[in-house]
Amino acid sequence: MKLQRIRSVGVEGMKATRITIEVALDRGLPKISIVGLPDRQIRESLDRVRAALTRIGIAFPRDCRMTINLAPASRPKEGAGFDLPIALGVAAAVLDVQWPTLKSTWLVGELALDGSIRPVAGILPIFQELQGRDVMATVIVSPENAREGAALEGIRVLSARNLGEAIEYLAGTGDLLGPGLPEEVIPEFSGPDFSEVRGQERAKRGLLVAAAGGHNVLMVGPPGTGKTLLARCFPMLLPPLTLEEAVSVTTIHSLAGLHVPGAPLIRERPWRAPHHTISEPGLIGGGHVPRPGEVSLAHHGVLFLDEVVEFQRRCLESLREPLEAGEIRLNRGLQSVRFPSEFVLVAAMNPCPCGMGIGEGIGCRCGVRQRERYAGRISGPILDRIDLRVTLQSVPFEILHGGGSEGADTEFMQAEVLKARAWAERRPENRGKSNALLPSNVLLEVCNLDRGGRRILRESMRDLELSARSHDRILRLGRTLADLEESPSVQVHHLVEAVEFRGIRLLDRV
Ligand SMILES: Nc1ncnc2c1ncn2[C@@H]1O[C@H](COP(=O)(O)OP(=O)(O)O)[C@@H](O)[C@H]1O
Ligand SMILES: [Mg+2]
Repeated sequence: MKLQRIRSVGVEGMKATRITIEVALDRGLPKISIVGLPDRQIRESLDRVRAALTRIGIAFPRDCRMTINLAPASRPKEGAGFDLPIALGVAAAVLDVQWPTLKSTWLVGELALDGSIRPVAGILPIFQELQGRDVMATVIVSPENAREGAALEGIRVLSARNLGEAIEYLAGTGDLLGPGLPEEVIPEFSGPDFSEVRGQERAKRGLLVAAAGGHNVLMVGPPGTGKTLLARCFPMLLPPLTLEEAVSVTTIHSLAGLHVPGAPLIRERPWRAPHHTISEPGLIGGGHVPRPGEVSLAHHGVLFLDEVVEFQRRCLESLREPLEAGEIRLNRGLQSVRFPSEFVLVAAMNPCPCGMGIGEGIGCRCGVRQRERYAGRISGPILDRIDLRVTLQSVPFEILHGGGSEGADTEFMQAEVLKARAWAERRPENRGKSNALLPSNVLLEVCNLDRGGRRILRESMRDLELSARSHDRILRLGRTLADLEESPSVQVHHLVEAVEFRGIRLLDRV
């Protein structure tokens, strides 16, 4: 009996699992079986493997039984990434050789019929799974996949163009190249600059605060006041992605088919703006083999819901889980797949059906009932998670025509955001967490209110009939306003501004 063991890694969602592939040749009736919960794609792999091996002069055995086992047997396996390890296992079994380097080498790749190695989607979690082991792992993948791993440390990534090259390397008769140097990527500033926005200083301040504390924000105002423009400026306020964040953003885009293997890591904050006609699976993800939806594509970035009340009710309800947990669980059969979904939500809406009911509401033709029904379409789960609300009014003619002082530009505002975030990071409670995600039980401690602060909060709660939830929301916001001034404690004027930002009573059903 001849038994070969080959190492590989499979992915389910974003989770990578190490898989051992065993190939056994036994005396018996000629038969090939593949066991260990393979999906259809893997069963088809045999045809590709047979064709690719034939090209290099290795034939499937005709006189014995071949069993291919994917272990552990309990996990379902999917994708075409096992072609390469299966082919090498069969080759080694047929040639009856023991390649010494095989023990410390992982193999992932799809095979074309001519034996060339093709990239697989979602390679980054596979590299991460193998990173930082005691004995540095060597992994052989296609040249495209190898380039994706170029920026990673603690792993040796080798690039093989075809099956023959991989075999020569393992047999010690040939060398493989590394991924080459990562392409230099300079994130492009794709959005407009805040300096293009005339007036709307209050809204700009709101977005600055939202970026500093990771708060979700709702903009309410008549059509044509710059809500969409402001939202497009917003992502540039967030700090650049860390390498780890870039890896997870790139992985999600790759799994969604929006990132070509071999393209450099995505270094820009995602900005996703789905249209209000989007379906529920489109928004949160889904499908037979679950794919990430908009909420995950917006991970570490911004999800912009323009005309938020126009979205299907079900879609808005489905945002509850990602907003609360920062991830989404998608069921498929008995298994479930998780995709991360930590984003800043920026929502925009008109104040009422006719769009004019803001401020004095001059020119608004809507009845009270109509306005309430309209506002009520943005449901509890979302509203509960929005710390910050800003109202926009039409910009006066003089300001549109360049009168008044120049407003802040993106560069200035981003510097403020970075300063506030650096200040917040000094608190242990804030490690890796923005203020918006601070749990209720640490709020009083991190806010460190003085007597004046407590008084103003008590009075606001009484006068405005605020709920406990609103109370927490004001504290989180107050904390961010204090961070912007690098103040250890949240002071009275921070709370006053926080209460103001909570605003828009029309929408409150608390
Ligand atoms: N405050 C503003 N400053 C500069 N341009 C503006 C402003 N408000 C609106 N605009 C311009 O008017 C157009 C419509 O603005 P938009 O952002 O789509 O408004 P809204 O989303 O509130 O309906 C855009 O082309 C934008 O450039
Ligand atoms: Mg708009």
